[in-house]
Amino acid sequence: MKKMKLPQQIVSLAILFAVLLAGLITARMFLIPKSFGKYGHYRADAVDEIKTQEINYAGAIICEECHEDIAEQKEKSNHRNVACEACHGPTAAHVEAPDEFIPTAPRGRGYCPLCHGYDPSRPTGFPQIIAELHNPGKACMTCHEPHNPLLPHTPEECSACHREISSTKRISPHESLECTSCHTVPEQHLTSPRFALAQKPQSREFCGDCHAKSAKSPKEIPRIDLHAHYERYLCWDCHYPHHPEAR
Ligand code: HEC
Ligand code: HEC
Ligand code: HEC
Ligand code: HEC
Ligand code: HEC
Ligand code: HEC
Ligand code: HEC
Ligand code: HEC
Repeated sequence: MKKMKLPQQIVSLAILFAVLLAGLITARMFLIPKSFGKYGHYRADAVDEIKTQEINYAGAIICEECHEDIAEQKEKSNHRNVACEACHGPTAAHVEAPDEFIPTAPRGRGYCPLCHGYDPSRPTGFPQIIAELHNPGKACMTCHEPHNPLLPHTPEECSACHREISSTKRISPHESLECTSCHTVPEQHLTSPRFALAQKPQSREFCGDCHAKSAKSPKEIPRIDLHAHYERYLCWDCHYPHHPEAR
């Protein structure tokens, strides 16, 4: 009768098991820190080590002692739950020596979108913007006070609402013209735009004021014969007024 031979994989598994068991015993004997288990299932010495670490954050309450006006402003605003140090970084050193360590303020356009940049995972209704499209090129603080970020109610610039037109004009031959040189805009249009509409040019003569042969405008402005130049049409049937092209 042939001797029973154990299958090769059982032998391998048994060896692996023996090695792991030996490893575990060695680890328990030599590698587990001494203070492990003293108070519970963790390393008791860790508590003392953490206690010796330097404190970097001062907390929200202490700032009030010296920056009462700002703290009060923020308390009433929509940023009431955003801690001072979320924007100004850890400032414990500043509280110790206010004149020696001056905290930084995030003045660049990159910072605020960390919270306000469009992200579909944010809660519904959370105020969001697409930074590349929202008033590009200007610091957020020119329009929003960081300690009291109310929405500006009266956007003083046409571009706040007519962004596409204003960026088109900005790269066109009409770049130097104010919007209001062609549109009469009632004050109320800025707050209730549909209730008080702006006026648009109505006639060929309007453009003729600058472009007609007889116009008293600066010499470099290209001229046309107002009566011969496609006289049966309005100028903007052919030339987009916010980006007129002739060639
Ligand atoms: C003991 C008083 C004191 C406390 C507490 C204090 N500050 Fe100040 N802080 C000052 C003084 C004084 C200045 C002006 C320093 C200067 O301009 O020379 C200042 C300036 C600042 C500035 C201005 C930096 C800039 O760019 O102009 C910021 C930001 C600031 N503190 C943030 C904080 C924050 C956040 C806290 C709370 C963690 C805080 N401070 C707590 C006294 C204090
Ligand atoms: C949402 C971010 C944000 C929060 C929260 C915030 N700050 Fe500021 N803080 C700024 C920015 C940005 C500036 C720079 C403003 C500027 O240059 O117009 C600034 C400027 C300052 C200044 C300089 C003086 C000034 O008014 O321009 C001080 C002082 C200051 N902050 C203190 C505080 C304190 C104290 C708190 C908490 C009560 C706080 N900040 C909360 C963003 C923030
Ligand atoms: C740590 C996150 C955080 C940062 C950083 C932050 N914000 Fe906010 N912001 C908030 C929260 C939270 C609200 C309140 C949202 C709400 O009302 O639901 C808010 C509200 C706003 C609003 C809307 C106010 C309104 O009336 O509806 C504006 C505007 C705003 N922040 C601008 C800024 C600007 C500018 C900066 C940079 C200086 C900034 N935020 C930085 C969290 C942040
Ligand atoms: C030229 C002025 C201007 C600048 C610069 C500007 N904003 Fe605004 N922002 C506005 C106006 C006006 C509104 C309100 C009208 C609107 O909805 O467009 C607004 C609205 C917002 C809102 C609220 C959106 C909502 O759904 O309620 C947030 C958040 C905001 N801005 C953040 C920023 C941040 C962050 C920056 C800098 C990257 C910035 N803004 C730069 C003028 C500005
Ligand atoms: C608060 C937002 C807002 C601001 C700021 C604003 N507009 Fe408007 N504007 C509108 C809206 C909304 C309409 C109506 C669009 C529609 O009916 O489709 C409009 C319409 C217009 C029209 C077309 C009127 C028509 O009869 O078709 C002109 C021209 C115009 N605006 C010019 C301007 C100029 C120039 C400025 C700056 C001085 C300006 N707007 C500032 C929101 C605004
Ligand atoms: C050279 C004169 C001129 C200038 C400068 C000008 N516009 Fe116009 N705009 C017109 C004319 C003409 C129309 C009518 C076009 C039509 O009816 O097809 C018009 C139409 C509009 C309309 C109606 C919608 C549309 O696209 O036709 C809006 C809104 C508008 N302009 C806003 C502005 C704003 C904002 C600025 C400044 C950034 C501006 N315009 C600068 C001449 C001008
Ligand atoms: C206040 C004066 C003024 C008014 C009003 C005006 N323009 Fe112009 N226009 C200019 C200036 C300035 C230029 C650029 C001249 C240059 O290239 O140096 C220009 C350039 C042009 C060009 C040539 C573009 C090119 O490719 O060289 C056309 C076409 C034009 N305007 C059409 C119009 C039309 C259509 C209107 C009426 C809706 C109008 N303009 C109203 C001042 C005006
Ligand atoms: C039927 C289309 C059409 C109409 C309507 C029209 N234009 Fe033109 N315009 C053109 C074309 C095409 C050119 C370029 C070729 C040319 O000079 O005929 C041009 C050229 C121009 C130039 C440039 C001239 C130069 O020397 O560079 C100006 C300025 C101009 N138009 C202004 C106007 C004004 C102002 C009106 C309204 C009074 C108007 N156009 C109406 C089609 C039109």
